[in-house]
Amino acid sequence: MIAIFDSGLGGLTALKEIRTAYPAEDLVYFGDTSRVPYGTRSRDTIIKYARQDMRFLMTHQPDAVVVACGTVSSTALDILRSEFPLPIIGVVEGAAKRALSLSKSGKIGVIGTAATVRSGSYARAIHALSPEAEVTQIACPLFVPLVENGFSSEGDPIARLTCERYLAPIREAGVDTLILGCTHYPLLTWAISETLPNTALVSAGAEAAKMLTLEKRAGIGSVKYYVSDDPAGFEANASIFLAHDLEHPVEKIDIETY
Ligand code: DGL
Repeated sequence: MIAIFDSGLGGLTALKEIRTAYPAEDLVYFGDTSRVPYGTRSRDTIIKYARQDMRFLMTHQPDAVVVACGTVSSTALDILRSEFPLPIIGVVEGAAKRALSLSKSGKIGVIGTAATVRSGSYARAIHALSPEAEVTQIACPLFVPLVENGFSSEGDPIARLTCERYLAPIREAGVDTLILGCTHYPLLTWAISETLPNTALVSAGAEAAKMLTLEKRAGIGSVKYYVSDDPAGFEANASIFLAHDLEHPVEKIDIETY
């Protein structure tokens, strides 16, 4: 069984890929919807939240955990790996590799939360593989509330304007590849590619899913969803993104007790 977590809906971008690649695998998803966004918070708070999320998921005895959150992957991955004895996959490494494989000019953009950009994690991962790459990073803090509040549907004028405003420096830097370094951002792909039509986009969540190397088995696994706040809002937005009704009702848990 694979456990996946994020501050909210964003990690579904990883779950969707895992489900497609390993349909027989049982999955447990946790979205910390009572404390989203993580990306505007301090390092200490992000680490505290990440530990609690892990402790809750460990009660399901997973074989591996996908930290489907750019913010936690950038801030707390090493700490989690040192404290929890199972494979833990983050979103940074796979995205850096994919961006380098797509980029012809070596000019790569990274958009993420304030905490992710502050950590410099993607730039570090890119430079470890290709020291001469040019990396331009921008924080886009309004994207997460837009997605969580359902302002991400195609054609939404607020999403369009916000992209135009945030992505101007990325356009000016002339990047040919852009990492969507926060797992919420692929839900705005339509607006991002309207703003940057000739730029290849890399979904960090989807690339993390590709880092899993599981045995392919026949059958259909179960997917259980947990949140720390209103299940109804999550269920509505998640079923739109996944394009199907959720198999099980979303359950609410009290994450502060973990
Ligand atoms: N989806 C998360 C990320 O990848 C968290 C966004 C947030 O809660 O600020 O960074």
